[in-house]
Amino acid sequence: MATASMGLIGVGTMGSALALNIAENGHDIALYNLAPSTIDDLINGAGELATRLTKTNSVAELVSAMPKPRAIILLVPAGAPVDMSIDALLPLLEGGDTIIDGGNSDFRETQARTKRVEDAGINYLGVGVSGGAEGARHGPSMMVGGSPSAWEPIRPVFEAIAAKHEGTPCVAHFGPDGAGHFVKTVHNGIEYADMQLIAEIYGLLRDGEGREPASIAPMFARWNDGILKSYLTEITSKILAAVDPETGKPVLDIIVDKAGQKGTGRWTVIEAIRMGQSASIIEAAVGARVLSSERDTRKVAAGILGTGALSAQSFDEDDLEAAFLAARILSYAQGFRILKAASDEFDWSLDFAQIAEVWREGCIIRSALLDDIATAFRSEMPEGRLILSDHFASILLEKMPALRRVVAQAVLSGLPVAALSSAISWFDEIRQARGTADMIQGQRDFFGAHSFLRLDKDGAHHGPWHAERS
Ligand code: 6PG
Repeated sequence: MATASMGLIGVGTMGSALALNIAENGHDIALYNLAPSTIDDLINGAGELATRLTKTNSVAELVSAMPKPRAIILLVPAGAPVDMSIDALLPLLEGGDTIIDGGNSDFRETQARTKRVEDAGINYLGVGVSGGAEGARHGPSMMVGGSPSAWEPIRPVFEAIAAKHEGTPCVAHFGPDGAGHFVKTVHNGIEYADMQLIAEIYGLLRDGEGREPASIAPMFARWNDGILKSYLTEITSKILAAVDPETGKPVLDIIVDKAGQKGTGRWTVIEAIRMGQSASIIEAAVGARVLSSERDTRKVAAGILGTGALSAQSFDEDDLEAAFLAARILSYAQGFRILKAASDEFDWSLDFAQIAEVWREGCIIRSALLDDIATAFRSEMPEGRLILSDHFASILLEKMPALRRVVAQAVLSGLPVAALSSAISWFDEIRQARGTADMIQGQRDFFGAHSFLRLDKDGAHHGPWHAERS
């Protein structure tokens, strides 16, 4: 099968970086952007790679500049711009050509677009691309959804440009239509959780101990030499150490404490709930971003309700490390559980070990843990649950006491730990052989005659509360 020629619509920061990566790997690429000057800037700064980059001034020119079969990557904002690009391309493309959406699209939109584009006789791939501009330039992690026959002509190019883990490309085809974008969405949900866990630990030391950011940096740098090694741990130590050149203050101290979100974390939670899964740690992270945005309210509330730690605290750094590890494992476990639910619902047969492997390099959540996660998924685990694998169960048994100590201390001192504490609750709920839903069922039956199952006999039953009910 012939390798496709490459085109790109959307030459922004990510698009420019990906174009250079594709060119560097020996492929010519035709470029189109609404604002043509970004293409000029790219080509002018591309050095010897410039000969591989072709500027075009319309979608029609882009298509005619490419030999068949063509693969056109869209790196435009999710939503309407993707549909507009498809509308412009469809009349110009021919059978064997492929449109590749490389943005953070909602997987349900990708499912609908796949059908629309395939009905028009054109291939469609929804590809989650992770790693930011740096990743796009030097090797992103990529999660592909679409038909296997659409993937084959694209595969050589994408394997070449992907991040490599010990030589293995961090790109894989995971399933049909929206599968790749769904895997990317959950990646981002885990990303939100991991970022929030780190932010909470930073908050404990800043607000509980009154420490300067630079004094916290070495702790994260040290953690990055061990089992917590990850891109997010690494950049955290760099962010903590950074100084604002204008004021000489720590950069963190001049950043407004409001976090934005484009939607993927929220989608993870929405889809988890739709699929009957708990994503409580990810939800805590999304909720924390929402509350962060209510800055005015927080300021008023601080005046009325008091702010910061109730008293000066001292946190044990080893406990914080263990707490982060336990909570990180639990948030990954939630993410993989959501992937399992989606795989079952859409019949995707997702390969969870392969997902962990694709996330080992290039993406934002790349971390040392992912190797162990892949190994765990390749072996038998009780109930198919990551946290019940020998490896992760023994880490959790060892580290959970530290997470409990950290959260207890934080709660008693009035410091917010939404994600860390959600991790404990999820862990404790899952390990209760006898939960408390007997009470929920009793209440449902009492007020709504919903009936309940009995432990001692079959069938649906009602409680002896008819008299009280009437
Ligand atoms: C990645 C990132 C990337 C981006 C998200 C973050 O994997 O490279 O996840 O996709 O940073 O858009 O989303 P928020 O703006 O919602 O934080």
